[in-house]
Amino acid sequence: MALATIVPLPLIFIAWSFAFSNNKSEMKKYHTAMENMNNTIVEYVRGMSVIKIFNLTVQSFTRFQSTVYAFRDCCNDWTERSITPWAVFIALLGSPLLFILPVGVWLYLSGQLQLPVFILFLIVGVAYMKPIYQLVFVSGTLAQITEGISRIDAILERKSLPEPANPKFPENYSIEFQDVDFAYDKTQVIYDVNFKIDEGKIFALVGPSGSGKTTIANLTARLWDIEKGRILIGGINIKDIPLDYLMDKMALVFQDVFIFSDTVLENIRMGRENMTEKEVIAAAKAANIHDFIKNELPAGYDTLIGEAGVHLSGGEKQRISLARAILKDAPIVILDEATAFADPENEVKIQEAFSELLKNKTVLIIAHRLSTITDSDQIMVLDEGKIVEMGTHNKLLKNMQLYSEMWESHNSAKKWTFKSTKIEGDVI
Ligand SMILES: Nc1ncnc2c1ncn2[C@@H]1O[C@H](COP(=O)(O)OP(=O)(O)OP(=O)(O)O)[C@@H](O)[C@H]1O
Ligand SMILES: [Mg+2]
Repeated sequence: MALATIVPLPLIFIAWSFAFSNNKSEMKKYHTAMENMNNTIVEYVRGMSVIKIFNLTVQSFTRFQSTVYAFRDCCNDWTERSITPWAVFIALLGSPLLFILPVGVWLYLSGQLQLPVFILFLIVGVAYMKPIYQLVFVSGTLAQITEGISRIDAILERKSLPEPANPKFPENYSIEFQDVDFAYDKTQVIYDVNFKIDEGKIFALVGPSGSGKTTIANLTARLWDIEKGRILIGGINIKDIPLDYLMDKMALVFQDVFIFSDTVLENIRMGRENMTEKEVIAAAKAANIHDFIKNELPAGYDTLIGEAGVHLSGGEKQRISLARAILKDAPIVILDEATAFADPENEVKIQEAFSELLKNKTVLIIAHRLSTITDSDQIMVLDEGKIVEMGTHNKLLKNMQLYSEMWESHNSAKKWTFKSTKIEGDVI
C-alpha cells in the first residue's frame, strides 16, 4: 500500500523539473519586462506636464502602452511554454487515488488488508499531496525572491568610496587641484585642472554650459573619486581625510535643490539635532526666507513641504538650501548657481546674505550671471573641461577673449527684450 501511495511522486518531480527547467532565465525576463513597464509608468506620470505642453500625448502613450504589452507578451510566452508540464504536474497531484484504490481493493478482496488500514491509506494518500503542492509554491516564491535580491545586490555591491587607512586632518581650509582628470564612466569631462584657493579667499568658476563646473564642485566634496591627479584640502589629499570630517567642513548649495517631505524647520536643520529653533530662524533670516515662511506658509516653520506638502517655487527652494548652508557654518562653501532663480530684488538680498555666509570662508562660487562674481579674488574660466584662463575680472576683461565675450553677452542679455511687430495685422 505504501508503494502504491508513492508511485506518483517520481512522476510529479519529473513534471515539476520540466515546468521549472528555465525558471531562472524566465524569471529574469519577467522582472526586466516588469521593471521597464514600471519605469515608463513613473516617467509618464512625472513628465505629464512636459508631454502635454509638447502635445506628445499619443507618442508617449504608445511608448507606455508598448511596455505594458511587452510585459503581457512576456507573461503569455512563459505561460505557453510551461503550460503542458504544469498541467501534467497538477493532474498528477490529484492522482494518488488512481494507484491506491485498485491496489487497496485487490489486497482487501484477497484478504491481505484490513478495512481500517485501507481507509487510513485513502485519507493519508490524498492528504500528503497538499504539502508537496505548498512546497512547489514556496520554491516559486523563492525563485522570485532570489531574482529580487540579485537586483538589490547589484546596487548594494557598488563600491563605496574607500575610507582612508591612516586618516589625516587638514589644519587649514585651502582647496587645491593638482593635474586633475576625471571621466564619468568613459567620457572624460575634466582635463588637467590646476588651481589653488587659499584659505579665506573667494574664487569664481565660470564657463559655458556643460564645461564641467558642477563636476569640479562635486569632486571637491569627493562625491566621486578622480582617476588622475590630487585634490587637497589644507594640503591633505581628500582621499586621506575621513568622509564624515570632510562633509562636515563643507557647505554646498547645489544647482538642483532637493526638498525632503518634512517641515520647513527640519528641511533647514537637516538632521543636526543640536541646532536650536532660534538658530534655524536666524539662518532663515540671513537667507532672506524668514518673512516668506512666517507670512505665507500656513503653519510657519512647521509647515510640511516637499512632495507630500506645500510646493515651493525654484527661488524659495534655493533660499531654503542657502539657509541650510548658513546654518551649517562650514569653513568651505561651494555655491553652484545659487542665485539662478532669484528675481532682481531678491538677488540683492541674497547677495547680502552671502556676504554674511562667506565671511572668512574658503569659497568656490559658480555663476552664469557674471555680474555676481566680479568682486571675487580670482575668476577661473573653464572651457570643455580645461581651465583656459585665471585672473581678476578686470584682467580677464582685458586679456581673455572668451571671458570678454561672455561678459558682453551677459550685458547684452540684460538689455534683451521681447518686441512685438505688426505684420499685416498679425502680432508676432
Ligand atoms: N552624472 C553624470 N554622468 C555622466 N555625464 C555627466 C554627469 N553629469 C554631468 N555629465 C556630463 O559632464 C559634462 C559637464 O557637466 P557639468 O554638469 O559639470 O557642466 P556645468 O559646467 O556645470 O554646466 P551648467 O552650466 O549647464 O550647469 C557635461 O557634458 C555633462 O553631460
Ligand atoms: Mg552646472
